[in-house]
Amino acid sequence: MTTTMSGTDQIQAREQRHVLQTYRRQPVVFVRGDGVRLYDVDGREYLDLLSGIGVASLGHANPVLARAIADQAQTLMHTSNLFFHPLQGELAERLADLSGLPRAFFCNSGAEAVEACLKFARRYWYTRGAPRTELIALERSFHGRTMGALSITSDEHYRAPFAPLLSGVKWVSADDPAALLQAVSTNTAAIIAEPIQGEGGVHPLTPAFADGIRRACEQSGALLIADEIQSGLGRTGHAFYFQALGMKPHLVSLGKALGGGVPIGAALISEEVASTIAYGDHGSTYGGNLLACRAALCVLEELVGGGLLAQVARVGQFFDQRLRALAAKHAFIKEVRGAGLIWGIELTRDAAPVVPAALERGVIVNRTAERVVRLLPPLVITEADAGVALERLDAAFAAIAHEGGPQG
Ligand SMILES: Cc1ncc(COP(=O)(O)O)c(C=O)c1O
Repeated sequence: MTTTMSGTDQIQAREQRHVLQTYRRQPVVFVRGDGVRLYDVDGREYLDLLSGIGVASLGHANPVLARAIADQAQTLMHTSNLFFHPLQGELAERLADLSGLPRAFFCNSGAEAVEACLKFARRYWYTRGAPRTELIALERSFHGRTMGALSITSDEHYRAPFAPLLSGVKWVSADDPAALLQAVSTNTAAIIAEPIQGEGGVHPLTPAFADGIRRACEQSGALLIADEIQSGLGRTGHAFYFQALGMKPHLVSLGKALGGGVPIGAALISEEVASTIAYGDHGSTYGGNLLACRAALCVLEELVGGGLLAQVARVGQFFDQRLRALAAKHAFIKEVRGAGLIWGIELTRDAAPVVPAALERGVIVNRTAERVVRLLPPLVITEADAGVALERLDAAFAAIAHEGGPQG
């Protein structure tokens, strides 16, 4: 990749001196965006197949979203949850219409939404006078980096340095419904599952496993928490992927795409669970402020009123076909998984070299679960842009085909 000594090196050096080094970043500095395009400090254009890990749902610098945010900033941004404002109830109502879960609690990130769901699940059993603390989580899961969310995140590397985490977590393979039925008990407070396991390598739950969850909940009374932070809000061409799987969660966690880039998370809650929560049980200073709610309302309006859901379903088919053609062409592609605009391309080798090879060719992708190239493009991407981006990815695959790397 070409970078001048000017911006990029100075920016990197300053970060290295003063920013806590928790992220291993690619050596590129983005300064501007426009739809599915990002521009670096040297003016170079990239097609974005990642949207800031599933966040920039309406694309970058979306004019409708930008106007709404600017208007809200000039009117009123934040008043705290000590008072009413007009937008929180409106947003909760729209999310209720989309999800079938009648109530929402607003927070500021995905991990906070998961934490809220965990607390509400515990509170439910506590209120019923029969406290349950056990949780069932899935292998390959990712739910966030806070202590509660980390406790149900499967990757040992993320967890080990921070032990002890929440106790009473049982792990079950998402490929094994029988194991789930064995693990669940009348001590299980909740089962938590991502309808599509994103960080774990883009693994959609199978209908058989979704049915296993239904039976496990019926058998034990356990609550179901669906983590839709990555798979929800139109990403799959459905409002939520739990709906496509016929799942009936009591709690749903949301984040990422909800604000289109403005940080906001939400826990959606069934009436049965909501009725066990009391004033003061949970809270957040920023959660659901006017600015974040205005952005989220704008995203939902585009998604539903603007016909984006249907577009995602259509462009998703295009990705499906093109990615299967890529898999047929490159011998080291083992499997392609996904739906709508969330895709994982699993290789027989480490996928790390694909990311810089793609960047060099002007396309942004990400590697997850070591061997998986993950695509999470903005929901507004067209077939034409997707076609160009996937040609560049094809070239990146061709370039690394002869490089070394562990074979699987
Ligand atoms: C399914 C899922 N849950 C939770 C999270 C955590 O969200 P955040 O990084 O906003 O805390 C993520 C983030 O990647 C996620 O994909």
